[in-house]
Parts: sequence; structure tokens; C-alpha cells
Amino acid sequence: METFPPRVCPFHGDASTTEPGPMTRVTLRSGQEVWAASRHADVRAVLTDPACSSNRANPNFPLPFGRRVRRGEGLKPSLIAMDAPEHGPARRLVLGEFTVKRLATLGTRVQEIVDEHLDAMLAEESRTANLVPALSLPVPSLVICELLGVPYADHEFFQSRSRTLISRASTQEEVKAASDGLRGYMDELVTAKEADPTDDLIGRQIVKRREEGIEDHEALVSLTILLLIAGHETTANMISLGTLALLQRPDQLAELRADPSKTPTAVEELLREFTIAEFVTSRVAVEDTVVNGTEVKAGEGVFTLGNAANHDPAVFADPTQVDIDRGARNHLAFGYGAHQCLGQNLARVELRVVFDTLFRRVPTLRVARPVAELPFKNDALIYGLHSLPVSW
Ligand code: HEM
Repeated sequence: METFPPRVCPFHGDASTTEPGPMTRVTLRSGQEVWAASRHADVRAVLTDPACSSNRANPNFPLPFGRRVRRGEGLKPSLIAMDAPEHGPARRLVLGEFTVKRLATLGTRVQEIVDEHLDAMLAEESRTANLVPALSLPVPSLVICELLGVPYADHEFFQSRSRTLISRASTQEEVKAASDGLRGYMDELVTAKEADPTDDLIGRQIVKRREEGIEDHEALVSLTILLLIAGHETTANMISLGTLALLQRPDQLAELRADPSKTPTAVEELLREFTIAEFVTSRVAVEDTVVNGTEVKAGEGVFTLGNAANHDPAVFADPTQVDIDRGARNHLAFGYGAHQCLGQNLARVELRVVFDTLFRRVPTLRVARPVAELPFKNDALIYGLHSLPVSW
């Protein structure tokens, strides 16, 4: 098995550690000094501490790449940036769209989308493809578009702007333009659906909010932008990384092919192994607090190294080994506490269907480049692969 190159932390520019240790002070690229929590228990303590705020507009909130993302005019904080008491009611309003029961019905449609994309990929005479545009990116993008009621025809518009928002290469002006562009786009779409609510998440939210007497156009615009971005970037990267990891481990892949009922536990293990969204769970202390014995003062930033926490030997035996039979559900890849990923059940459905179908339909699939030459996303807030050349 070829080893993966080290990950680089977008906050302080050093190699991101997978070694958990005591709470420590680190200096970010911006010069800001913050706390870093890397043990499983410490990360959980931060993410359940009411003194640790998610308010990204707080000037002390640790942001990656040493920059401050400026939001477009009138854009309200989205769910991920809210604290109690606003966060709970706002989350409950949309929670019903993401229950396991509700998403079970979506599985059939996910299967159709995956099959259509694999049909197109396998029709390629060269028997080679870049898995990212062929499968990883379009599948979750189509699914979130259909769920929200966003036209998929606009995917290049929103995919490119999402990429700008999470890339280190983007300037402050580019980030602002991307943010304003997405806001304008969603503002128009939500306005149209307000005039004539459609049977999709946005339309249903409009009706529900009217029934409950909560008519807040801007809040719905912010929420749907968050869902659109979070709904495709994350899962797309997990599809590419998970495929690569399984192709690197032929014994485990053979086990999975022989018994597809193991896919759900394999998905959890791959989520643990890569912890792609560890840098979205930062917090800022808004009161003095104590995190597992460490004093954190009001105004201090805390960032949580979920990848290290997910390799904590105190919780996961032999943590550096990928073991599709591990069956660990206590990983922190979807975060922890009040903000734990709203779309996790959707991501699980998509990942299960993709891995089951891809390895069943393409038994000779292989990576067409040495791992060391693959473009890993060390320049983005969400870890992943820019491209994944494959052949069969
Ligand atoms: C493999 C895929 C995914 C990963 C690894 C992931 C990871 C995360 C993490 C770590 C958080 C916590 C943020 C925090 O504590 O500040 C989060 C929150 C969130 N995620 Fe995901 N996510 C994934 C897929 C999705 C999908 C498919 C959707 C949408 C349909 C989604 C929507 C959200 C939303 C709305 C929040 C904010 C929840 C809140 O603040 O209450 N995610 N995600």
C-alpha cells in the first residue's frame, strides 16, 4: 500500500497532526494565538461547552488561511454560526427533512443517479476517467439540488463559488464576490418559490414557516446556501477518498464485495479515517471556562483537531489501521453536540449506494496514478482530492 502524503492544516500551515495530546496553544497564519484540542474527550468537551460559541462573526473566531470571510450585504448568520437560544428552534424547523425515515425514500433516487453516472463513465472507450467529475461531484450535487429544488443546470455556478469560499488561493475580494453571487442567486430562487411554493425542501420550508408565523426570507436564504454548499462539497470528497482508500486495501475491498452488508460499517470507518471537515468545528470562548481541566479565557479561540481525536488510542484501538469491521460509531467526523451534522444521514445513504454500486459494477477499477502524484486538497477547508484518475 502506498502511503498518503501528510495533511497540512489550513489554519497554521503546518502538517496537521493525527497525534492527540493535551490542550495546547498554536499560532495561526493570521498571527492569532488559539487553543488546539486534539484528544477525543477534549474535542467533545469543547463542542458541548455552552461558553464555546459558533458565532463566526466574532472577531476572535479562528478562521482559516488568516483571513476574515466577509459576508454579503444582508446575509444572516446560518445555522452553523448560531448559538443558543436561536440555534435550537432554527434547527428544529428543518430537522424533519433529514430523518432516517424521510431519507430512506431518497435511496432509490440516489441509486438511479449513481447508475446513470456509471453508465456514462463505463461508455468511455479509453476505459479511463477522472472520478471527481464523473461520479464524486455530480452525485451529491444532483441529490442536494433535487432535495432543495435548485436547478442542477446551475451546478457550475454554485460549485465554482463554493470552491472559492473554501480555498486558500482565493483573495478576500474573490470570497466576497462568491458569497454575494450565491446570496443573489438564492435570494431570487427563494423569492420565486415564495410566490408559488414547490414540493421541495425550500417550498415546504416556506409553507411550514408561514403556518408557524415565522416569515424570514433572509434566514431561509442563509440556510439554503449552507445546505447547498455543505450538501455537495463534503460528500464528494468522501467518495473520492473512500474509493482510493479501499482500492489501496484489496483484502478489505474483497471482504466488502463478498458481503455488501458490511458497507455501513465501512462507511463509518472511512469517515473516521479521513475526518474531512475537522476545520469547520472551531469555536470562540465567550465566557471564561474550563475544558477538561484547561482554563480557557473569554475571547480566546479554540480549534478542534477532529482528525487527531478520531485517531485517539484511548478510544480507537490500533487507530492508524483502517478496519472496515471496526464498527465504531463514536467518531467525530460529523462533529459533536448541538451542531452535529444535520445532513449526516443523507451523506451515509449516498456513500453506501456509491461504494456498493461502484465496486460491484466495476470490479477491475484501479487508480491510474501513484498516490504520491495525486492532488490532495491541502489548500481547502474541506480535505479531499481535486481529481482521481481511474481505469478499469
Ligand atoms: C461526508 C459528508 C459530511 C461531513 C464529513 C460533514 C461534516 C460536518 C461537521 C463536522 C459539522 C459540524 C460543524 C460544527 O460543529 O460547527 C457539520 C454540520 C452541518 N452539516 Fe455536514 N457534513 C457532511 C455532509 C453534509 C450534508 C450532505 C449536508 C446537507 C444536506 C450537511 C449539512 C450540514 C449542516 C446544515 C450543518 C450545520 C448544523 C448545525 O449547525 O446545526 N452536511 N457537518
